[in-house]
Amino acid sequence: MTRHKVSKAIFPVAGLGTRFLPATKSIPKEIMTLVDRPLIQYAIDEARAAGIDEFIFVTSRGKSALEDYFDHSPELERTLTEAGKADLLETLHQTYMSSGAIAYVRQNRPRGLGHAVWCARRLVGDEPFAVLLPDDVIAAEKPCLKQMVEAYGDLGGCMVAAMEVPPARASSYGVLDVDRDDGSLIRVKGLVEKPKAGTAPSNLAVIGRYILSPRVMENLNNMRPGAGGEIQLTDAIAAEIGGPETVHGYRFQGQRYDCGSKAGFLQATVAFGLARQDLSAEFADFLHHMVALREAAQ
Ligand code: G1P
Repeated sequence: MTRHKVSKAIFPVAGLGTRFLPATKSIPKEIMTLVDRPLIQYAIDEARAAGIDEFIFVTSRGKSALEDYFDHSPELERTLTEAGKADLLETLHQTYMSSGAIAYVRQNRPRGLGHAVWCARRLVGDEPFAVLLPDDVIAAEKPCLKQMVEAYGDLGGCMVAAMEVPPARASSYGVLDVDRDDGSLIRVKGLVEKPKAGTAPSNLAVIGRYILSPRVMENLNNMRPGAGGEIQLTDAIAAEIGGPETVHGYRFQGQRYDCGSKAGFLQATVAFGLARQDLSAEFADFLHHMVALREAAQ
């Protein structure tokens, strides 16, 4: 059987990030920092760990800080070298991309996630590609996209990351209509973007990691606006169901944080702070102290 290889990933980063105003007035949301690394670095590291070596950013006006972030910085490098700061140099190198490995396309109007992905069609060509939404940060022993790439190898078609959510939250997500549930792999017979309250076909939500067949790009050529009047990626994937290729959900191992919301961002900050050896003891003490103060005040 042929193994389906995935070497390109799309990062839709054109959103205005209005939920984080005023911070996002002058910095892209994806540069906002979890502990000491911007959100986008987590997504890039996850993609690299999954074997991705071509990175396609769908950007918009006001996102030039993202392009600078992945560029080399000779002054900083010289200063750190002269000061003998090898560990910081190593950290700096993790942000570098070799020439040609990263490409930027612009989405000139916010028309939805499906439209953003479609903007990258010429760079993707005729091969399966990954999509990572940097707002969804996933802490996992084996990075989420790597888990998916391994499962995808024998399957091909389309695969979306999936996770159970409380039924009342289902209308904030793309939701799976389950045909067969084999634990980590879920055969899908339908996908609905942001179903109206009480109409969701399950409580299994699409999370922002996808591996998609190039056929999805073709579907996006003709896609009409869906939920919220936007061109939805979910609809273009749903159009594959019943066709020659399969559509699967993948129930990943790991903890997902919704860094597109303030509460989710704060939760991720606490979790990632506690997971850091250099910070955890002091930070845990502080958290205990804060909780005790709050309880005493109640
Ligand atoms: C997007 C997708 C949705 C998915 C979600 C995961 O929605 O359209 O299908 O469930 O990401 O985070 P958004 O959160 O951009 O509205």
